[in-house]
Order: sequence, then structure tokens, then C-alpha cells
Amino acid sequence: MAGRINDDDVKAVRDAVPIDAVVSEYLQLRNAGGGNLKGLCPFHDEKSPSFQVSPSKGLYHCFGCQAGGDTLDFIMKIDHLSFSEAVERLAGQAGITLRYEEGGYTAGTSGRGERIRLVEAHKAAAVFYAGQLESPEAEIARAFLASRGFDQAAAAHFGVGYSPAGWDHLTRFLRGKGFSDKELLLSGLAQDSRSGKPIDRFRGRLMWPIRDITGEVVGFGARKLRDDDNGPKYLNTPETAIYKKSQVLYGIDLAKKEIVRTSRAVVVEGYTDVMACHLAGVTTAIATCGTAFGGDHIKILRRLLMDNATAEVIFTFDGDAAGQKAALRAFEDDQKFAAETSIAITPGGMDPCELRLAEGNQAVEDLVESRTPLFEFALRHIVARHNLENPAGRAAALDEAAPVVAHIKNIAIQHESAVQLAGMLGVRDEQFVVKRVAQLARWARDRGGRAPQQPPRAGSGSASAAPAPAAAPPGPALNLRSPAHRTERELLKLALQRPDLVSPAFDAYGVDEFTAPPYATVRQAIQDAGGVARGGDDYLARVREAAPNDTVRAMVTELAVEAIHAKTVDEVYAGVQLVQVRLRAVDRRVHDIQGSLARLGQGGPADRLAAVQNELWVLQQYGQSLRNRGAAAL
Ligand code: GTP
Ligand code: MN
Repeated sequence: MAGRINDDDVKAVRDAVPIDAVVSEYLQLRNAGGGNLKGLCPFHDEKSPSFQVSPSKGLYHCFGCQAGGDTLDFIMKIDHLSFSEAVERLAGQAGITLRYEEGGYTAGTSGRGERIRLVEAHKAAAVFYAGQLESPEAEIARAFLASRGFDQAAAAHFGVGYSPAGWDHLTRFLRGKGFSDKELLLSGLAQDSRSGKPIDRFRGRLMWPIRDITGEVVGFGARKLRDDDNGPKYLNTPETAIYKKSQVLYGIDLAKKEIVRTSRAVVVEGYTDVMACHLAGVTTAIATCGTAFGGDHIKILRRLLMDNATAEVIFTFDGDAAGQKAALRAFEDDQKFAAETSIAITPGGMDPCELRLAEGNQAVEDLVESRTPLFEFALRHIVARHNLENPAGRAAALDEAAPVVAHIKNIAIQHESAVQLAGMLGVRDEQFVVKRVAQLARWARDRGGRAPQQPPRAGSGSASAAPAPAAAPPGPALNLRSPAHRTERELLKLALQRPDLVSPAFDAYGVDEFTAPPYATVRQAIQDAGGVARGGDDYLARVREAAPNDTVRAMVTELAVEAIHAKTVDEVYAGVQLVQVRLRAVDRRVHDIQGSLARLGQGGPADRLAAVQNELWVLQQYGQSLRNRGAAAL
């Protein structure tokens, strides 16, 4: 153990960096009068600022949750650091060398807190990977970057690197820097191997350092580059003490200042999209890392945007109807956020990176300018499904859209949306629509916060939830950022549009191989209609008929018309979708079995144990051969 940090040094560190500078790394601060500053408290959920900072006293205090203290207290609390870790972090930033009482001067490795060590390991790893990008072996990585429109300067700006293809290049490098195997495993940079020795987690991949809001590297996103790499397209750092995927936003370190300055954030889907946007001048772009945009991400953005009236969050989606639906569902429990949200749909199903390649920087900026407010977007989406040429169609559209408007909590926005809806429907008497909406809203309030015919929502006791997804089947919402859901969707589109390409294999797929409940119901309908092998002229009509209700029928139609995401739709593409859906199902099953094996434990009945182990072995063999031989192994 290194000793206690010298008291004078602690004081020097505390005085070295003004508290408002430290706090501003995490949230936007505004003048609160009397020399104080205020912002949205990072320690509890709030929508108007009760978090105060006094630069002259060097203290912060939240009038909402009573959290308070000095600079070091703030760092300890927000980054979950111990006292000495907080001192070390701040000393590092201020360039102060600490003296430790018992050990005298120390280079400070062994006694440092775990988090600090993990951050140091990542910092060293990022330098290592970036250096490797110059190596001959990394030619394939440089070629990938070039093919996406990124030159050397762009790679350097984002710190992009390359992980060599051997087993333990990084592991050996970091050992040489004094990191222990335990630290390497805890950091997620290395993993256990069969030989018992740690090996590199990332091998032969393009590496994006993922930084937290203060700019420290806390993880990596790694893209596959070679065909013989059996892993997923993207591999991310696992959950560690410093990397929580529900809380990281790729690009936030670079975008933060512009987000605060312009009160605007642009959410895109991937690492390449963030790069493309920033290079195109949209420097407020950020992305989640291998997970859907969720409540924790909302909190982070909200703290930067504060309660600014002009705050705006813009989500970009490719033209895919599914992505749009996901957008409508994204903010079910946060209406304030929804009110500030806009949707920008890329032309031709391109993502921002592809758009920049195809049409240049200006097209990316134009995309952001072309956005539509979420509520309006949701209404257009519903209305577009009806034929407004005749009165029955207009009435049906109104029936579907009015409850959605009635869900909007903010009365001003609700009224404005009702007027807007009247316009969309071509109803001349807009008061008719406004009254209808008001009546529905009143009814919802009277019934204890639930809109007519809406099932109770978990965790929302307050009046009215969100723009209700109009035709949502029961079950968890689709998550189109989930690679699993996306492949399932592609496979179903093929099954409906090109049954010849997936026949006969598809008919052997279980309903439970489709993890998204709406997709499982479509799978069931195809089966009930006689399967893909039966085909025939009336195939689609039969599937639609087999659908148990209109919601599923609408989904069948949607999947039957939506463009398949491939330049060439052929057996090869179909095979890849078949294999991926099957592989995920196999992997889930393997995971389940491993769980029951663990539960059976040592003491379980021997015959049962043997049977389970055998099933596990068979499945693992199957998974391996799917990975090696693809569709041929189906
Ligand atoms: P290209 O399609 O080669 O241009 O790459 P891309 O970066 O555009 O990838 P894509 O649009 O397929 O994915 C966008 C984002 O989704 C990525 O940046 C990842 O964050 C995430 N993603 C895609 N596939 C996977 C996967 O297999 N695993 C994980 N964890 N995330 C993925
Ligand atoms: Mn993409």
C-alpha cells in the first residue's frame, strides 16, 4: 500500500481547480445570482435546476436531494471514487505530483484505486492501438477507414486504432507497463483463455476508443475486418467498473461543448456515423454503443441541455419503417424529452456515414435541418396509414390519432398538436378535433390516469404516458438497434417476399427463434398459412388471413413491402440471415443450459447431469459448424 496522501498536497489539489470548472465537465451551469451558479442535479432526477455551485466557497449543494460538499466530494460521488482516487484524479488534471506519507515519493502503482488503474490501462491501450494502425498488418483497417471516407487526420481526431491479430500483443504490452493480469481481466481488455493465461479480447479489429464525458477512455468498440473472424460485427468492452453501456455515449467528449452551446444534440447509430457527422460539421453528434438509447442516456443529455426552452434532440433514422416505429416508442416514460425530440429520416435508407460518402458534407447538414418534431412525426405516421379521400378513412385516422394527442401532458403542445392533426386530416372545423382530444384527455384523467383502452403501464402512475405506439402488439417494444431484431426482421421480409430463397430451411424454424414478440407472431402466421415451401400465387393473402388480428396483419403487410437491405437479394444473403437467426437461438439455448448446469452443480443427479452436458455438447458442435460452414450447416 502506498501511504496517506500528504495533507498539504490534498489542500493544494482542492484549491488548484475551481469547483465550477470541475462540475461543468458533467453538466451545464448558468448564473443563479449572488455569484452562484445552478444546473440540473446529476445525483437525482429533476427537470428544473436545484443544484447550486458557489465558486467563491468552493462548494456545491442540491436543494432537491441535499447532496453537497467540496470539489473532491463531487468527484467522489459522481465517478464513484474513493477519497484518494478523487485526489489522484484531480492531481493528474492539475499536474500536481502527490507525496505519500509513509512511502515518500511514489510512482504510485500498487496502491492506486482500482478505477484509476483501469482508466490508466485504457489510456495506455488507446495509445498502443493507435500506434498499431500504422503497422503493415493494419492495411485492412486503413482500407476500411478509407472506404468509409476517413483519412488519417480523421482517424487521429477520433483516436481510431487497430488491435493486432495475435493472441496477446496488448496483454504483453500492458504487463510491461506494470499492469497485473488481474487488472487486465478487470479492465475487459484481456480475457481468460483455455490455457489459463489472459489473452487480448480484441484481435485483428478496427478500434474506437470510447470516452466518458470528461474525455477519459473507458472502453472500446471494435469492428470486425476479416472474414475468418467468427465474432460479431461489433464487439464492445464488457460491463466493468468504469464501462456501463447504458451510460456511455460515443462522441460525448467531443460533442459536449457544442451541445451546451447550441442546446442541441444529434443522436446517430454508430461510430462511423458520429465520425461522418463531426467531419461534416454536425459536431453535436453522439451514438450509443451497442445498445438502445435509454433512460440513462436521456439523463446525461438533459443535464447538458438543461431546461432550455430551445433544447432539442434530433434522432436520425434510415428510411426503414421499423426504425421510425422505434423512434415513436423511444420515450414512453419521458414526455418532456419527447417534446424536445425531432426525427430526421435519411434518404434512400442510408446512414449518415453513407450519406456523406454518396452526397457529401452538405447533405449531412441538410439531413439535420430536415427534421420533424416527434409528436408531429408520430401523427403523420398514423395518418399516412389511412385513405383520407373518403369520410370513413378520415374518421378512422381521427379515431387512431386523437388518443395519441390526448396523451400529451403539456396542454399547450396538446392543443397545438390537435390543430395540426385537423390540418393533416383536412378537417375544416378544427374545433371538432380539438374538442374530441380534450374530451379523451379528460376521460383519461377521470379514470385515474389511464387513457381509454390502454393497458396499465409499469412504473407510470401519473396521468397519461406517451405518444402511444398506435398498432403495437403486446410484449416488449421492438428494438431495431438490436442486431438480433434487425436480422429477424430481414429474415421475415425474405420469407414473405422471396419464400423461394429461404425454403425449405425456414419452415423448420421455431416461433421462439424470433425474440421480438411481434416477429414471433408473424412467424406463427406464416406457419399457419402452410409455410414458405407451399408458396403459390395466394401465399401472401394466406399469411395475411392467418394473422390472428389486424395488428399482426399490418405487420405482415409492412414486412411484405419494406425493401430488403441488400444490393443483391440472393441465396447468399438469405443464407446469412438464416444462419444468424439460428446461431443466436443456439447461443441463447447454450447460455440457458449452462445456467441449469450451474444450478445442478456438483450434487445433481448423475444421469440428469450427463444428459444436460450431452445436449450442451451437441449444441456447441452445431454452433461451431454454423460458424464455420454457414448456411451449408443448417
Ligand atoms: P458498415 O455497415 O460496415 O458501414 O458499418 P456500420 O458502422 O455502419 O455498422 P451498422 O450500421 O451495422 O451498425 C451501427 C452500430 O450498431 C454500430 O456502430 C454498433 O454500435 C451497433 N452494432 C451493429 N452490429 C453490432 C453487433 O454485432 N454487436 C454490437 N454490440 N453492436 C452492433
Ligand atoms: Mn451503419
